[in-house]
Amino acid sequence: MSTVEDWTTHDTTAPAHEPLVIDDQDNQTFRVHRSAMTSAEVHRAEVERVFGHSWLYVGHESEVPKPGDFVRRNLAGRPIFMVRGAKSRDVNVFHNSCTHRGALVCRQDSGNSKVFQCFYHAWSFDSEGKLKGVPDREGYSNGLDFDRLSLAKVARVDSYRGFVFACFDADVVDLPTWLAGAKEYIDLVVDGCGGSVEIIKGTNEYSFDANYKLLIENSADGYHAASTHDTYFKYLVSIGTDLQGGVIGQAVKLGNGHAVIEYSAPWGRPVAKWEPLFGEDAKVEIDRIRAELTERYGAERAHKMCEVNRNLIIYPNLIINDIMAVTVRTMFSPAPNRVDVTAWELAPTDEVPSLRERRLDSFLTFLGPGGFATPDDVEALESCQTGFSSGGVEWNDISRGMGRGPMANDEQQMREFWRRWQQQMGDAADLGGAR
Ligand code: FES
Ligand SMILES: [Fe+2]
Repeated sequence: MSTVEDWTTHDTTAPAHEPLVIDDQDNQTFRVHRSAMTSAEVHRAEVERVFGHSWLYVGHESEVPKPGDFVRRNLAGRPIFMVRGAKSRDVNVFHNSCTHRGALVCRQDSGNSKVFQCFYHAWSFDSEGKLKGVPDREGYSNGLDFDRLSLAKVARVDSYRGFVFACFDADVVDLPTWLAGAKEYIDLVVDGCGGSVEIIKGTNEYSFDANYKLLIENSADGYHAASTHDTYFKYLVSIGTDLQGGVIGQAVKLGNGHAVIEYSAPWGRPVAKWEPLFGEDAKVEIDRIRAELTERYGAERAHKMCEVNRNLIIYPNLIINDIMAVTVRTMFSPAPNRVDVTAWELAPTDEVPSLRERRLDSFLTFLGPGGFATPDDVEALESCQTGFSSGGVEWNDISRGMGRGPMANDEQQMREFWRRWQQQMGDAADLGGAR
């Protein structure tokens, strides 16, 4: 018989014979059991069932433009690296483990290299993963087939509009099917940037004490903006921004756990809505971009690109926030109550330097680890995680907006995420026999 301690790292007792997500359509209520954020056992199952079988964002093709360019990543806790093959020009994604006895073969975060030499016994591999060099090769009998000792590729790799994804499960559905309705929103982001985008060099990396799913919820949570980010709105007012319209919009289900909130908001957008913060001299360039987008995509789509903000959840752990800057961020919980976040800034490839500067400024001002938003959000999420440890309350309520057309400040986008999560996790009854 399992005990509560087997189940959870804190006090939240998992209810017997019930799923962790309760979607009660009859009563229009939606609940998530807090052990989804606190239990070591649920976390172990999540790593296997969710992260072992989902397409996960690895990086962007623009990060490895030339043959031999590479970036090292951590994909759901597993070391991997992405390298542009010298022969194929493909983006290869390898398990970062030497086929000899296991050491990491890529030990730098990024760079360019013809070969990746393992530092342990100096086996070396080329950018296609082929084993090229083995010191004292004659020490091996003819029975050993060196051709079979190439680096192992992650089971599936594919990209959409430059966004590279990989999956550890060879049997997963193809990437376009997986992305479902999210594709249209990636298109809006990329086309809104003129059709060609790049990740600006450099990353924001930070960690804090909360489960990663709290950050997924928070990344597309219109409800918290006014209360949590009061300081930012006061700042906008102080520099002359008109807050009259407020934050107005809707949530859209995109299938397979993906969802988006799209809304108008008082802040400016480098593509292509001017605000006082950008300075007078940016007006001309922003007007030019706007006219170009209207010409190319028509008034309606151009309006969506320029005026409408998007916080896009791509299940299970990618967020694209197309707001006062375009940030791409992934996150993973190495333990139930901890999250590691990596964020990048996406920009049009040929952006003029003055706008690039303002974009980076917007990125840092609001969304960077020391910006107006992130410290507030981290405080809120750590506070939730701490609150869970108090016990006494078993469930989070995520019902907001169930009785009406989903608004951007409702919680439908979170419910979409949780429904898919529950589906992948399966009935918790078989989680280590705890139920
Ligand atoms: S572990 Fe890499 S060469 Fe031995
Ligand atoms: Fe926030």
